[in-house]
Amino acid sequence: MAYAAYVFDAYGTLFDVHAAVRRHADAVGPEGQQLSELWRSKQLEYSWTRALMGQWRDFWALTEEALDHAFERVPSADKSQRANLLDAYFKLDCYPEVPAVLKALKATGARVAILSNGSVAMLDSAVRNAALDSVIDDVFSVDSLQTFKTDPAVYDLVTTRYRLYPDAVSFQSSNRWDVAGATKFGFRTIWINRARMPDEYSDLSPSLILPDLNGVA
Ligand code: LAC
Repeated sequence: MAYAAYVFDAYGTLFDVHAAVRRHADAVGPEGQQLSELWRSKQLEYSWTRALMGQWRDFWALTEEALDHAFERVPSADKSQRANLLDAYFKLDCYPEVPAVLKALKATGARVAILSNGSVAMLDSAVRNAALDSVIDDVFSVDSLQTFKTDPAVYDLVTTRYRLYPDAVSFQSSNRWDVAGATKFGFRTIWINRARMPDEYSDLSPSLILPDLNGVA
């Protein structure tokens, strides 16, 4: 069955969040991977707690705060790399299969979009840097709502704008918590399990699990 819209999470799904530390791995030092993992997990934690509290800050501010926290926790990491890492995060690499998969979906006549916690500025920069602007029809950011996934209002941005029922939308994310939120909302969901993680949220299962975006249809 073909879907009217294929909507993608951004960070971890299209763009490699660990590419920033990797790009400066030598300068950051031997515990770069630990820094990168902490950076990502704190960034996400801040988004969930702030959404619950109703004390919003945009995702770029959370990305900066999370990096500062990660630096404190990993003293071996060279703090003078802060600006370089943030600059690299603003221009993350996309995964290698992304351009071809998105082009093929767009060629079916479906809409191809991003739905992300990212700020408008950081998403525009990532899309431009990865040369995906010609293939992505719309970038939906939580900025207009001042909350974060998994608030159902975020997923509703897509159905409201496209005037579609949720089950006409195929949503792809590498983040299992995001897949849970999107499944609960009513999207058809595909979990892109890039990190080969065990399953979670057993009451909110995806329709499909793939190792990368190849096979999304
Ligand atoms: C996104 C992050 C949370 O929404 O992965 O793009």
